[in-house]
Amino acid sequence: MTTTTDVKVSEVKDLTRVERIGAHSHIRGLGLDDAFEARNVSQGMVGQKAARRAAGVILELIRQGKIAGRAVLLAGQPGTGKTAIAMGMAKALGEETPFAMMAGSEIFSLEMSKTEALTQAFRKAIGVRIKEETEMIEGEVVEVEVDKPAAGGVSKTGKLTLKTTEMETVFDLGQKMIESLVKQKIQHGDVIAIDKASGKITKLGRSFARSKDFDAMGPATKFVQCPDGELQKKKELVHVVTLHEIDVINSRSQGFLALFSGDTGEIRSEVREQIDGKVAAWREEGKAEIVPGVLFIDEVHMLDIECFSWLNRALENENAPILVVATNRGITRIRGTNYKSPHGIPIDLLDRLLIISTSPYTEQEIRKILDIRCEEEDVEMSEDARDLLTKIGHETSLRYAIHLINAAALACQKRKGKEVEMEDIGRVYSLFVDVKRSTQFLMEYQEQFMFNEMSPDDEMEEDSAQHTE
Ligand SMILES: Nc1ncnc2c1ncn2[C@@H]1O[C@H](COP(=O)(O)OP(=O)(O)OP(=O)(O)O)[C@@H](O)[C@H]1O
Ligand SMILES: [Mg+2]
Repeated sequence: MTTTTDVKVSEVKDLTRVERIGAHSHIRGLGLDDAFEARNVSQGMVGQKAARRAAGVILELIRQGKIAGRAVLLAGQPGTGKTAIAMGMAKALGEETPFAMMAGSEIFSLEMSKTEALTQAFRKAIGVRIKEETEMIEGEVVEVEVDKPAAGGVSKTGKLTLKTTEMETVFDLGQKMIESLVKQKIQHGDVIAIDKASGKITKLGRSFARSKDFDAMGPATKFVQCPDGELQKKKELVHVVTLHEIDVINSRSQGFLALFSGDTGEIRSEVREQIDGKVAAWREEGKAEIVPGVLFIDEVHMLDIECFSWLNRALENENAPILVVATNRGITRIRGTNYKSPHGIPIDLLDRLLIISTSPYTEQEIRKILDIRCEEEDVEMSEDARDLLTKIGHETSLRYAIHLINAAALACQKRKGKEVEMEDIGRVYSLFVDVKRSTQFLMEYQEQFMFNEMSPDDEMEEDSAQHTE
């Protein structure tokens, strides 16, 4: 039985695929109950209840699809979970609703104008739900007959017999369909669907009539009824594409492959106008609906005055997505001007924003987040070590403490320990300094660094002044 061992090898490979762990990979939603009340710890989210609840209300508005052009600002100190909440919103929205995200600074590094970059981002966040009628052939496989070619390899012709409860028909098979049948291991007793236009074959399950094979098939097998009526049926297919995707596919200079490389360049406004017209026509015919999604702009204080005024205007469009922006700045200069304003955002845009503020975490909440991160990063840690790390997180920053988890795990591995102990934490705490200690070091040895701009009596005030400047 060499074939079965072959299969096993490939399965093992699949399982050991490395999954990278990102800063927010533990967040799986906003962790709200049915009444939008934030659960203490849920879906990877801890505390910050008011902000999570507010985000949940916004989500509900999006789901109902009633409001367009609303904008929300997540404001709060660094490391208070603003980006995390936005990620939670994205997860909670599901696949159907588009969620586009960008950092404010991105618009300055793309090879296109700022407004083009913003237009693309906006259109990435607007979905079009397109309804399509297709002809499908659905039936239970009676027989797959493939001519074995003399020279080996995949055969080029064959026949497929399908039946419903009422009829039975023989279909001719092309090479592509044969490959697809072989790949999906489709055999006598499977129920399949074939898209008539594309020839794409989908396995729906095993016929109930075959349920006595259950032992042979394993528990993963899904059993379905043998279809009744005609073999050919009209089916309504619904899919959501974003306006940006339609733009790229239709912009002749780039071609749809640009969708994968991300190298879309500027899209001509005529193309967009045409597409908007087409979509409007589809909507009137009932073929398509607009699905306003979410555009999240992190570090929004990096946008400049031109971008802000563009946003002001764009939000008034009836198809505008919900705009979620985040910043950790206080009263600061608006980029591109000499004026200061709260969060570095002009007052007229601020006026359009619903503001959700986030606040620093308590020691208990930090502990809980660190627990979740330990689990996410697959690190065993003793209670003492967790206590110490929580204290460090409270006194320095949550991010610093999160970063120490993995470093400490390496230290533990090095001494061949089973779980991370206080000594490992202590070791990495002295290896990697946090901002406070680094600043202190700079103060003490400033003469030895390049471009030193501090006069001896400036001391720490300079540092805090820079944040609010
Ligand atoms: N309520 C929370 N529950 C679980 N994890 C959280 C929570 N808040 C923050 N985190 C995690 O803590 C880390 C820092 O939070 P995050 O990046 O969201 O901060 P931020 O408010 O965006 O900060 P900045 O202003 O510096 O961008 C992230 O790894 C994040 O996933
Ligand atoms: Mg952030």
